[in-house]
Amino acid sequence: MSKVVLVVGGAGYIGSHCARLLSERGVEVVVLDDLSAGHREAVSGPLIVADIRDRAAMRDALQSRPFDAVVHFAARALVSESTANPALYFDVNVGGTATLIAAMIEAGVDTLLFSSSCSIYGAPQYVPVDEAHPKAPMSPYGLSKWMVEQMLDEVRLRHGLRISSLRYFNAAGAHPSGELGESHAVETHLIPLAFDAALGRRPPLQVYGRDYDTPDGTCIRDYVHVMDLAEAHLSALEAMWRGHPGSAWNLGTGRGSSVLQVLDAVARVSGLTVPREDAARREGDPPKVWASAAAIRRELGWTPKHTELEEIIASAWRWTRAPRY
Ligand SMILES: NC(=O)c1ccc[n+]([C@@H]2O[C@H](COP(=O)([O-])OP(=O)(O)OC[C@H]3O[C@@H](n4cnc5c(N)ncnc54)[C@H](O)[C@@H]3O)[C@@H](O)[C@H]2O)c1
Repeated sequence: MSKVVLVVGGAGYIGSHCARLLSERGVEVVVLDDLSAGHREAVSGPLIVADIRDRAAMRDALQSRPFDAVVHFAARALVSESTANPALYFDVNVGGTATLIAAMIEAGVDTLLFSSSCSIYGAPQYVPVDEAHPKAPMSPYGLSKWMVEQMLDEVRLRHGLRISSLRYFNAAGAHPSGELGESHAVETHLIPLAFDAALGRRPPLQVYGRDYDTPDGTCIRDYVHVMDLAEAHLSALEAMWRGHPGSAWNLGTGRGSSVLQVLDAVARVSGLTVPREDAARREGDPPKVWASAAAIRRELGWTPKHTELEEIIASAWRWTRAPRY
């Protein structure tokens, strides 16, 4: 019998790709999203429009049918907004998740997958960053993710739920069909910003810091394809359905790319020049971040398939040229 999964935040960037992959693999998917940052057009099956902070709505949703799991992407996810308005981030990301868990427990849904982030580690003390790396989030956003992970550990322990947290590094790329991609009203991610600058949709791209201790002086990040993230979600769900109690796993390629390497690849892939300006370092930007994803590789056999920066950027470019929403 096929599994039924509630994908919370499934109208957003990563959630919509994951929802699509799950349904392509025979999982029945219901999406719940308040559409504050997501897109109705990104959802192909049933959609419940609700806010995760709304206890009655979450109770109704979770009890609308027997769910085999919840995959939880819904969050406010802008570091700068979190610094300006931390209370909002604790309300939505922490409070909303507490409401979701309470509704799951009431409805007897015992499996949860949570979208965490490499921002829980703060500035790395070493790279590659493994799961045991000390947690020192540098923004209310990162702190909200770490608070939720700790909350979920208690819930797993005391309510007997199966829960995994997947700590994404920098999500990038788009669905191979061209039907789904990244479309944020407030964009902060380097690859879509670079395309927009190249297409003249926004001013020249600001390169924050050219004097870091890295080979070309710019910051290094680990860009992981959104379809590889989606595959990891399916692997983690299947493991928990087989009885795995759940864990916290990093999701990255294990390779870092600098800002200039990304901009060069954007230019190569698109055939356009990326206008750019050198700017001062941003406070709190660590020079080098890349993941060790050895744990999930060892334990679940997940390994990213799209590790070439150009391949990731080419898929984002296909979307950028003809976005559906
Ligand atoms: N994009 C990345 O590189 C990245 C990296 C690490 C972690 N994450 C995490 O992954 C998750 C998905 O990120 P994304 O880039 O797809 O973001 P996104 O903003 O595209 O998606 C989040 C979705 O949640 C929905 N949502 C927000 N608040 C809600 C609420 N109160 N009730 C119901 N729905 C609500 C939004 O409408 C949106 O559809 C987030 O939890 C984010 O923190 C993302």
